[in-house]
Parts: sequence; C-alpha cells; structure tokens
Amino acid sequence: MAFAYREGALFAEEAPLEDIARRFGTPCYVYSRAAIEGAYREFTDELAGRASLVCYSVKANSNLAVLSVLARLGAGFDIVSGGELARVIAAGGDPATGVFSGVGTTEAEIRGALQAGILSINLESEQELERVNAIAGTLGKRAPVAFRVNPDVDAKTHPYISTGLKHNKFGVAWSNAEALLRKAAALPNVRLTGLGFHIGSLMIDSAPFVAATQRILELVERLERGGITLGHIDLGGGMGIRYRDESPAPIAAFVRGALDALGRRRETLLLDPGRAIVGNAGVLLTRVEYVKPGEAKNFLVVDAAMNDLIRPALYDAWHEVKPLQELQALATSTLYDVVGPVCESADWLAKDRRLAVRQGEFLAIMSAGAYAMAMSSNYNTRPRAAEVMVSGAEARLVRRRETVAELFGGEQVPVWN
Ligand code: LLP
Repeated sequence: MAFAYREGALFAEEAPLEDIARRFGTPCYVYSRAAIEGAYREFTDELAGRASLVCYSVKANSNLAVLSVLARLGAGFDIVSGGELARVIAAGGDPATGVFSGVGTTEAEIRGALQAGILSINLESEQELERVNAIAGTLGKRAPVAFRVNPDVDAKTHPYISTGLKHNKFGVAWSNAEALLRKAAALPNVRLTGLGFHIGSLMIDSAPFVAATQRILELVERLERGGITLGHIDLGGGMGIRYRDESPAPIAAFVRGALDALGRRRETLLLDPGRAIVGNAGVLLTRVEYVKPGEAKNFLVVDAAMNDLIRPALYDAWHEVKPLQELQALATSTLYDVVGPVCESADWLAKDRRLAVRQGEFLAIMSAGAYAMAMSSNYNTRPRAAEVMVSGAEARLVRRRETVAELFGGEQVPVWN
C-alpha cells in the first residue's frame, strides 16, 4: 500500500503527507514512485515471454517525472497530441515505442509524429489514411499505420467514458474496417502495421475486453486469408481500479484473457493502460479553510476545487477522503460535503462523508493519480496545484505551483482607436 496510516498519520511510502502539505503548500498532488512502478510491473510480469509492449496512456497523467519513471522501465507510450509527444521526448521516452492515437490528428501532428519516428499512427477514418499517405509521400517516408476499429462491444462503464459502441465517435466502423485495411495495404506511402481497439475506461469486468479481443481476431484472420499480415494488435486500456468498494478484475485477468484469445498468434501485443498504472499512485492534498454548518447540510470548504479535480463534477465520481491525522474520536464526527471555493454548485469533491476535522487541518483526496491534474484548469483564475513525487522517504517537487502572473501572462489589452 503506497498510502497508509502509521501511528495515526497518513504516509506516502516512507514520507508523512502532513510534512509534504506544510512544505509544498496545498492544494498539492503527491505521487508514489513505487506505486507507479509496481502497477506497471503487474502488466509486464503477466506478459513475460510474449512479444509485447505496454504503452502507458499519457493522458491519464502527463507529468514529466511520471513519464520518466515509466520510460526508465522500458514502457512505450500512447499519445493523442503533438503536445503529449513532446512531453514523452522531453521525459526521455523513445518515440519508436509510441502509438499516436488521436481522434482528429492534424497535418502538423502527423508530420511531427513521422519525423520523430513513431511506432504507429492509429487511424480513425479514411480521410485520415489519405492524409497520412500524402504527408508521408512529401517526407519521402512510409508511414507505419494501424487502425482503431470500433468493435461495438459494451464496456459496461460510465457513458462518458464508454468508447466502443456504434454511436461513439471513436474508431472506424466495424462494417467498413476490412475495406479500409485493404486500401491501406495497397497505398504506396503507408505500411499497415497493426489493428486495435479501446472500448472504454474504468472496466470492472474483463469479459467485454476479452470479447472485443476475440472479435478483432476474427478480422485479423480474415485479413490473413487475404494475404495481409500485421505486426501488432493493440487492445487498448481501460482496466479499472478501486475507488470505493468495487472489485475490479485484476490486471492478470485482463492480460490472461487476451493471451488466451491470442493463442499462438505471433503479432506483438500492445496494451495502453493509463488509470491502472497511475490512478491509485496519487493523492490530492487539501486544507480545510472553513467548517460551515448549514440547515440541510454541513460543508467542509477546502482549498482544492473542481478546477483541480473535475471527476466528481463531471462523472459523479467517488473519491475517498482521508484526514492526514487519523482521528480516534469518531463519535464526534459529522456528515459533510467536501466542497471547493469555485462559484459552481458542481464544485464538490465528496458528498455525505463522516469526518472529524477542524479548520486548518489537512485531507487527502484518494485515487487522484489519473485524470486529475491532467484534467485541471484555471477556472476562477486559480493557479494549478503543485505536484510532488515521493520515493522512499524523499519527496521532490515535480511541478511547481503556478503563479497568478503566469495565468494572464499571455494576454494583452488592445489599444483601440
Ligand atoms: N487508449 C485509448 C485509445 C484511450 O482513449 C484511453 C483513454 C486509454 C487508452 C486509457 O484508458 P485507461 O486505461 O486510463 O482507462 N477522464 C476519464 C477517463 C477518460 C479516458 C479516455 N481514454 C476519467 O476520469 O474517468
């Protein structure tokens, strides 16, 4: 357990979180290096002996320190923008282990990815295929491309993070996939290297993932009969984690399900998990500014807000809240909504939690390693939080808190006639 109480105080590895909150201020994200490494190894241990690459999905948490930990372990990267590619390179990652899986990839992004020597560009449409073919031609290159197909399998997750159904914008339609793959195989400036899917995020059960794998293998076999062979099969990410009391299938169940389905097939297996690697490797530290009793509800007004962590507002997501000093006297606890200072009713981090805390004390919002800082904003002109990484007893700043001056540094007041 990366985050656990020791004699009443919550620790990240060997470092007391309250020391970190006082030293770096709040709100502040804290990541455990050991937890990131451990989660990554759960994948690679299961994949041992099989041609495979775990491409960490950068969108979940793109801090350079996080990317660097994974690059050093030999991870590949799943990226969706030129910005994410630049981060991977800056963190010491190898673009040749990167899959570019954008939904609306621009010409500049395609050019950048090809020049960087990306492993594959995952295509989502016929127009994108034609665009990549044309750009590769002007660069005198053969672009490695893969297709993301939409297998029309229900991942059984929140509708906002379900992506593998017919009505979702992602991937090429199942009915059109074979024709498009054949077309790609015949174009001069692309090299068809792979096929993949990503059916959704936060899957609790591995069955939809395995069903999608089986479905895509039917297509792989059909292509093979037509003389088209592939280098890799990319089964996406989406493995769930525990936020509350869910029991997500272990990583091993996802990986073994995929390996069983693949049987003796020789293509390299790619997985692109994000949340499963970083989700439970991070917490958000916040300070109680005010304890505010109300007529219908009691509120803890804290210094973190929906701009720091939007998952509750956006998905009704549940994040556990733990005091940094464990209180024995639970008899004196009260039911609170934990809310931020932003002027929106959706600005809440947790509802109806039994807590016993006083003004000035600190709380940890748990499971905040994925889609937390990465989705933060500057709404209400709030500087984004500091980020800290812990390794053993050492805590290092990995992103300093933004300053207000930076927030409007790019703005100009025009001088009108
Ligand atoms: N591969 C592709 C093509 C993806 O679109 C995604 C996530 C992943 C991999 C990684 O999925 P993961 O293993 O992290 O579930 N903001 C939402 C999650 C959005 C996921 C978007 N795509 C949340 O906070 O729950």
